[in-house]
Amino acid sequence: MQDVFDKVAEVRKQIEEAAIGSSVELEAFRVRFLGSKNILKDLFSAIKEVPNERKKEFGQLINEVKSLAESVFQEKSVLFADTNKQSARQIDLSLPAVTRNQGAMHPITLVREEIVHILERIGYVVAEGPEIEDDWHNFTALAMPDNHPARDMQDTFYIQTNPDILLRTHTSNVQIRVMEKQEPPIRIIAPGRTYRNETISARAHCIFHQVELLYIDEHVSFADLKQTLLYLAQELFGSQTKIRLRPSYFPFTEPSAELDVSCFICNQQGCNICKHTGWVEIGGAGMVDPAVLEACSIDPDKYSGFAFGMGLERMAMLKWQINDIRLFSENDLRFLQQFEGR
Ligand code: DAH
Repeated sequence: MQDVFDKVAEVRKQIEEAAIGSSVELEAFRVRFLGSKNILKDLFSAIKEVPNERKKEFGQLINEVKSLAESVFQEKSVLFADTNKQSARQIDLSLPAVTRNQGAMHPITLVREEIVHILERIGYVVAEGPEIEDDWHNFTALAMPDNHPARDMQDTFYIQTNPDILLRTHTSNVQIRVMEKQEPPIRIIAPGRTYRNETISARAHCIFHQVELLYIDEHVSFADLKQTLLYLAQELFGSQTKIRLRPSYFPFTEPSAELDVSCFICNQQGCNICKHTGWVEIGGAGMVDPAVLEACSIDPDKYSGFAFGMGLERMAMLKWQINDIRLFSENDLRFLQQFEGR
């Protein structure tokens, strides 16, 4: 029986000696001595063990200890309320603000938007086509029938074992998609993701982006192509920019050309980017082959046109002198944050 009285004395001692130095410790104190399952309630239920003549004494003792806990709690609460007020007065207005991260556009998005805006100003509209494509739209209609050697240059990803379904190797499929549906005049720009089964390195990736241009109307000539490319190059790299068209070969254009622009890094003085030639290659172009128009039921005697294709990674790498194509798809914030506010 003495035990129960000892226990109450022990609890009183704990309350008197409680170290309350913070609001967290104050809350722990409240839960232990005044909360809904407090330690005093347990003790009070032990009153059964106390002989009748001492029950009153025991009850008073518990009540005293309870009031003690309440007054300690009151006292300390006031103390902590005070320190809160004090710290509010101590806000340091000279501290740097907590900044909010705005996020940035991806560099590929930035060059895509820039090119799209330049061409929209001369009447081009954005067109889209599927990334999972069939053989006809990616190859055959573009004058690359089965066994055509040009297919080898575009190491293709096929979907499972079906040789007819593949991931498009270029955005030229959109030329076919649009010409099948729309009568000339056609003036489209088709940006999009493309895929090739390439070994990933600093210079090549299996996923990349292209922009495709297609213009079909009556009497479209090579001069129109050249003037459009000059406009595009000068808008992208500055009004001093010169262009050069080198004869080339693409199955779906005749004649075909590769487009070089005068090196905007060194102003044709010679640098690493242009490999001291003064020129950098930015894309392929040509007059749409009559066979391609025919494949889309467009009359090649009435209509002619040109097409142009360029890689967006290459553009971004030239623009910002980025030396590793893998950076575009690694999502490294240290890289991406450098494009904030552009
Ligand atoms: N599709 C070609 C490629 O991926 C690029 C290209 C060349 C597109 C000439 C064209 C073009 O529209 O006329 O290599």
